[in-house]
Amino acid sequence: MTAPLDVLPAPTTLAGLSLRSRFAMAPMTRKYSPGGVPTAEVAAYYRRRAEGGIGLIITEGALVGHPSASHETDVPRMTPGAAEAGWRLVTGEVHRADGRIAAQLWHLGSERGAGAWTPSTMRGTDFPEILDAYGESARTAVRAGFDAVEIHAAHGYLLDEFLWPRTNRRTDRYGGDARARATFPAEVIRTVKAELPPGMPLIVRFSQFKERDYAARIAETPAELEAILETFAEAGADVLHASQRRFWEPVFAGHHENLAGWAKRITGLPAITVGSVGLTRGFLTSPELDDLLKRRANDEYDLVALGRILLANPDWVRLAAAGRTDQIRDYRKADEDVLW
Ligand SMILES: Cc1cc2nc3c(=O)[nH]c(=O)nc-3n(C[C@H](O)[C@H](O)[C@H](O)COP(=O)(O)O)c2cc1C
Repeated sequence: MTAPLDVLPAPTTLAGLSLRSRFAMAPMTRKYSPGGVPTAEVAAYYRRRAEGGIGLIITEGALVGHPSASHETDVPRMTPGAAEAGWRLVTGEVHRADGRIAAQLWHLGSERGAGAWTPSTMRGTDFPEILDAYGESARTAVRAGFDAVEIHAAHGYLLDEFLWPRTNRRTDRYGGDARARATFPAEVIRTVKAELPPGMPLIVRFSQFKERDYAARIAETPAELEAILETFAEAGADVLHASQRRFWEPVFAGHHENLAGWAKRITGLPAITVGSVGLTRGFLTSPELDDLLKRRANDEYDLVALGRILLANPDWVRLAAAGRTDQIRDYRKADEDVLW
């Protein structure tokens, strides 16, 4: 059988970082880090995906070191000490498999539940306090050996709550039009960027949809999206990770581009696309794969992130590139509950 994929498994560079393929692993929360400390099993889990042909792994959301970030105890933290040592194990294993790995920094905002900090509750000194937590996490990620850092500004968590008019009702400089709503996320970007050594890429993940509202939008028009993404680029974003549930869906009526396509077109920055890759039945001979390859040929994205299909198949890239469809397992919801 001939390999249906060709350009995607080839080596590439992303904002100066050399990668063995155009496939990224999408960040997926796991609760296997007791006390916020990643274990040797977590390191082996990521190593298997690197061995399976992923160019850039993006970790599960790792909490910044502020009490408001989350109350979860088994979600990993990106903080000095034991968690940093755990992450050093993880980056070491991935590097031994010749992979590259980015740390995703996460603050849950209102999704924390009780004691949440949100755009409506934050006051004066709360802002520098959160920025300090992001700065400390960025320094920790650098010391732990990460190749890049990703800021989670998607899906309805703290930074995305600033971007969305429904959750950002502020009347000070942090609220208002799209550019003003991007002010605090941009301050986080600037803070994190200042902690990274020259040449280390800073990725910013954003989305229109929220986990609790798939129809939500941070930008109703291309002009609003431009205001937000240009603010991110000015603040120091090197790569935009445009989160969608299905990569083939256009964002604005009358234009075929998906969210990554818009991000690239607006900013000229490299972009990562994502959303249901490999999940449709018979993906390797499907119209969705043709669509993905066509968007690549049109330079509408640089990397493709894989999420759930990698939970079922750590080596999906190798199998898919070799056309070995018979060895690819279907993803099942239960795959989310196993660490292997
Ligand atoms: C179990 C699970 C956990 C996830 N956790 C995160 C997360 O921590 N951070 C994040 O930005 N997205 C998270 N996502 C979203 C994924 O990164 C990805 O965008 C989504 O699964 C769509 O890609 P897929 O269709 O290839 O799975 C999660 C998704 C799943 C299924």
